[in-house]
Amino acid sequence: MPMKHIQIINGPNLNLLGKREPTVYGNQSFEAYFDVLKTKFPTCEMFYFQSNTEGAIIDKIHEVGFTYDAIIINAGAYTHTSVAIADAIRAITTPVIEVHISNVFKREAFRHHSYLSEVCKGCIVGFGLDSYRLAIDSVLNA
Ligand code: DQA
Repeated sequence: MPMKHIQIINGPNLNLLGKREPTVYGNQSFEAYFDVLKTKFPTCEMFYFQSNTEGAIIDKIHEVGFTYDAIIINAGAYTHTSVAIADAIRAITTPVIEVHISNVFKREAFRHHSYLSEVCKGCIVGFGLDSYRLAIDSVLNA
């Protein structure tokens, strides 16, 4: 089976995972978790990109969105605001999976709407960092 190329994209404030609101987002940095993921999925080529800037996230979606097997995106607060990221996902051919660490539906009402969900293949919400592992499993089982 050929190696699957998977791009993980994290949006604003997710560079602070492990330090940021640990009761909501846990104690582990994404870099540490990414090492766990790479060990768990030796048949995948996984790439990790994080940016606090909307345009940089859009550029990354354009860059990988016609050749990679999947994009897993946690757009952070841009999930709830960004028509531009939704349009970038609409523009590409690679399937995109939306993930959230917290269960956004248990939180403030402004987190209940996502501009991205309707243009994504599916959404995985509320399983902590394990949301990313579930997303990769779904790519491998597709
Ligand atoms: C988040 C949920 C968003 O509402 C929030 O703005 C984030 C993280 C999550 O992974 O739970 O930054 O996407």
